[in-house]
Amino acid sequence: MDRNTDFLVIGSGIAGLSFALKASAHGKVLIITKAAADESNTKYAQGGIAAVTAATDSFEEHIIDTLQCGDGLCDEKAVRMVVSESKKRIEEIIEWGAQFDKNADGEYDLAREGGHSKHRVLHHKDNTGFEIERALLESIRVNPNIEVLSHHFAVDIITQHHLGEEVRKGTENIECFGAYALNYQTHQVEIIRAKITVMATGGAGQVYKTTTNPLIATGDGMAMVYRAKGAVDHMEFVQFHPTALFNPGESPCFLISEAVRGAGAILKTADGEEFMQKYDDRKSLASRDIVARAIDNEMKVRGDEYVYLDCRHIPEDEFIRHFPNIHQKCLAIGIHPHTDMIPVLPAAHYFCGGIRVDENALSSIGQLYAVGECACTGLHGANRLASNSLLEALVYSHRAYLHASLQAKNVAWREGIPAWDAEGTKQPGERVLITHNRRELQSLMSNYVGIVRSDERLKRALERTEIIYRETEMLYEKTVLSPELCELRNLINVAYQVIKAAMARRVNVGLHYSTDLLTS
Ligand code: FAD
Ligand code: SIN
Repeated sequence: MDRNTDFLVIGSGIAGLSFALKASAHGKVLIITKAAADESNTKYAQGGIAAVTAATDSFEEHIIDTLQCGDGLCDEKAVRMVVSESKKRIEEIIEWGAQFDKNADGEYDLAREGGHSKHRVLHHKDNTGFEIERALLESIRVNPNIEVLSHHFAVDIITQHHLGEEVRKGTENIECFGAYALNYQTHQVEIIRAKITVMATGGAGQVYKTTTNPLIATGDGMAMVYRAKGAVDHMEFVQFHPTALFNPGESPCFLISEAVRGAGAILKTADGEEFMQKYDDRKSLASRDIVARAIDNEMKVRGDEYVYLDCRHIPEDEFIRHFPNIHQKCLAIGIHPHTDMIPVLPAAHYFCGGIRVDENALSSIGQLYAVGECACTGLHGANRLASNSLLEALVYSHRAYLHASLQAKNVAWREGIPAWDAEGTKQPGERVLITHNRRELQSLMSNYVGIVRSDERLKRALERTEIIYRETEMLYEKTVLSPELCELRNLINVAYQVIKAAMARRVNVGLHYSTDLLTS
């Protein structure tokens, strides 16, 4: 069934949902999302959301921390805008029903994470994202102007290309008219015509074997925009979280929040030695690029599969109060955080790059906005400051709504969009070809395009990715569309973008580190 809507939002994490709530005052909003409505990276966010709320903190300090973390590649205008709008956006999300922990004096219980010079992270115990997702979805469900279609996969955005017109990369007049979406129930690809389309598809951690990201994080938005010849930037800056729980066989990895280090936990080697003092004066609370690289180095030098996080000195009641889920998880696998050290390792966690957008979240494609992790706003530069991403999503969704609600008045639905062409395709004989290629891609990305790179590793990665690409495109040509096949194509596309961007970056900066390059 084809549909028309004023605003099409692709994705139901913090970015898509907060945009939808606002835009619903200006027209009909349709949210499509490929899994259950609440499944997203947002749902798993632990540490919290960074914002200046304490009298002892200042916008300037948050700005300096963000810029320092971004290692010279942040867009300072974007940083200043996000930080100075943080308070208003936090007030809004509280009005929508999200609750953040307070201390005995009724003040927000602010946590600290790596790279922050102050305690400034608002949190809901250690499941802040779950709380935010809950509150937003509750508001969405009672909003008559918003419809949510779960289990609908956006396959591609619709541009002039689909109308038979030639579209070249860098062309200024590419426009978006909506999206083709695969309905899981009918197995049909439907046309969704929209005046405004908002990409809110999140990150791409699933391109790596070891990741904290859930299965949905396959970089679909970045791939769709790249295919549509839109601008995508900074893809080499993949952030590895230093402390995922080492629990062989569990995928994705369970996260041990950086807020645990903010509460005093210390990184140690298997024989109980502290090591972060060798790498940075801030020790275990240095920025993530530095801590993840330090852990990677210690593991390689010592031949260990993990390092330890020592929380034994943190009062047990304090630990349980702030980190009940982490505590439970550790107990469930036989680790008692008060008497045992927690084995941890770095895992792919966050994409700093993505769809290039301006200060209004508008992409290089007309009528197409991008918000949240799939976007590259300039806030993060070469390395994201912890807990800045939930904040970025709120601020840019607000900016997008302000701009898009005016734009929508001057746009009509595009006529003449052809139905999805599935001619000549058949049911796949073997689905296992898709799963094998997904696994192979994840392994090669982890082996060759991880925390430490080299020219030789990147060359190998590119050659192997090209083989997987050719095999998968052949499948795509002749196979009936499935979400698994679409995701594999998108993962390959993202892997290619990361490798090419890493090859092109000829200096070590932030999260990009190659043994063949000099550090700036
Ligand atoms: P998501 O929340 O990932 O939502 C994307 C949505 O798009 C999903 O609903 C998905 O199903 C849908 N989607 C994707 N592709 C398609 C498609 N093709 N068709 C239809 N739907 C699609 N950040 C912080 O600031 N603080 C934290 O404490 C924090 N902790 C984290 C802990 C973990 C374990 C993880 C994984 C991340 C954490 N982050 C944290 C990062 C942060 O959670 C994410 O960057 C943020 O939630 C992204 O929000 P989003 O709305 O952009 O995307
Ligand atoms: C964490 O809780 O450590 C994750 C915070 C983030 O990714 O911003």
